[in-house]
Amino acid sequence: MKRDESFALFAQIDRPLVAPSLLSADFARLLEDVRDVEAKGADWLHWDVMDGHFVPNLTFGPPVVKALRRHTDLFFDVHLMVEAPQRLLEAFRDVGADAFTLHIEADPHAHRAIKAAQSMGMKAGISLNPSTPCEAIRPLLHEVDLVLVMSVNPGFGGQAFIPWVKDKVARIRKMLVELGRPHVPISVDGGINAETGREVVEAGATVLVAGTYVFGAKDRGEPIAALKSIPLPREGK
Ligand code: DX5
Ligand code: ZN
Repeated sequence: MKRDESFALFAQIDRPLVAPSLLSADFARLLEDVRDVEAKGADWLHWDVMDGHFVPNLTFGPPVVKALRRHTDLFFDVHLMVEAPQRLLEAFRDVGADAFTLHIEADPHAHRAIKAAQSMGMKAGISLNPSTPCEAIRPLLHEVDLVLVMSVNPGFGGQAFIPWVKDKVARIRKMLVELGRPHVPISVDGGINAETGREVVEAGATVLVAGTYVFGAKDRGEPIAALKSIPLPREGK
């Protein structure tokens, strides 16, 4: 899916979008891995940016995004697991990030950062950790373009899905419907495979982030197709 197409589609699609997480790609062959998942139907590319403070791990920053931006037209979904994310806004916009998602736990001025990202032409998302209550993001649901619900504690790939996060997805979808914003995408991140993917889609998710499940497969086309074949629940169900 091309960069400028995906957001307009959320009111019409009947399947979740699939966002392979580069954290589980082979860092020595990032470009080949990106080309592979693009050819095999990935909708978005999910970038896990970690700073060694908000989460213990360190990954990549704008220079790596810039290097790959030249080679693909995939939508870049940048998930910032960093403290003070607003200081990175411009740097990510300049290298071609399409969505800038920050953690509510990382920024007491999240509303300001979201408005700034939108004014720079990016989609702006809010994310919350498993133990953060849905209420913490409720005021921001009026404004955000995307909600990213963590179904593991952020920092590492390959962790087990936390089952009660499904209830949080359902609560946030209900809040969005009540606000008259039913088509705002909810993305779920952590431990996603065909089974957990189906469960979160039934609860209201519309984007599935998957690292290990996609990049760990011999043929990445199989997990991508399996996630894309999950039907979205019909409205009014
Ligand atoms: C975790 C990251 C995830 C991670 C998911 O901190 O935000 O995007 O890559 O990896 P899997 O799919 O392996 O749980
Ligand atoms: Zn992520």
